[in-house]
Amino acid sequence: MEIRHPLQKCLFPVAGLGTRFLPATKDIPKEMLPLIDRPIIHYGVEEAVSSGCRDIVFVTGRSKRSIEDYFDRSVELENLLERRGQLGLRDELARISEMARFAYVRQSEPLGLGHAVLCGEPCFNDSYFGLILPDDVILSDQPVLGQLAEVHESLGGSVLALEEVSWEETSRYGIIEGNPCGEGVFRITNLVEKPSPGQAPSRYAIIGRYLLSPAIFGHLRSVRAGAGGEIQLTDALRALLAEEPVYGLLYRGTRLDCGTKLGWLKATVTLALHDPELRETILDIVRKEECND
Ligand code: G1P
Repeated sequence: MEIRHPLQKCLFPVAGLGTRFLPATKDIPKEMLPLIDRPIIHYGVEEAVSSGCRDIVFVTGRSKRSIEDYFDRSVELENLLERRGQLGLRDELARISEMARFAYVRQSEPLGLGHAVLCGEPCFNDSYFGLILPDDVILSDQPVLGQLAEVHESLGGSVLALEEVSWEETSRYGIIEGNPCGEGVFRITNLVEKPSPGQAPSRYAIIGRYLLSPAIFGHLRSVRAGAGGEIQLTDALRALLAEEPVYGLLYRGTRLDCGTKLGWLKATVTLALHDPELRETILDIVRKEECND
């Protein structure tokens, strides 16, 4: 009988250079760009923690020090806030470093998502683990990684979050082929990385949430460079599903894609409109701009 492991660890690949946001990201990691009052990366970590993870592993690179600093304590700042009597804010800052245990490994060359995951291998022993691509911030009642963990608890295997995209968008994602086997759940039979619409086996795209079997590392070590000359996680998953079940779940939630300037801007406005303190101000600005046109 298969031994089921509770989800305890989550990997975040954060070594990318963020060239789409230059010059803003010349010295600041794109993961540290703010969404309202916290950096983008904070939202992903919060999702992992509220899905049950207590160990967060960042696969990081040069010029990403500020991510480490953000998830560490800042005793000077806490002392200053205490002296000023801003105890609520002091406690809020202190809680960031207490959310989980944080570890960092380096990806010294940009060889692709599959390579980034492989760099994290020393931090994972033989257990299933979460993988979050932090560009996607997802608003949902139940954290998406937790939704994947529920499927894993009932069916076992690896589980990927899926979203139905338009045919024009298939070339931006890993696309699956599979058979329905429950509400919103598919048993995946094939995956293709960034197919053109004519080649795509379906419109079900993999989005940035995965619950992965530790057997993925063996496959990552043996796959060759694929689409874009990079070591693709999708190719290793295709090899994995010949040996172990891989499921897909149409997750419940709203995705805010912060990987582009336009997406980040939309995410900022969406979050502001969800915030009772900011909503009216944003609507006022838009109304005034409309009158000026
Ligand atoms: C990666 C994966 C792709 C997936 C996408 C989700 O692509 O390779 O399969 O659909 O993330 O965001 P990237 O966006 O890194 O090019």
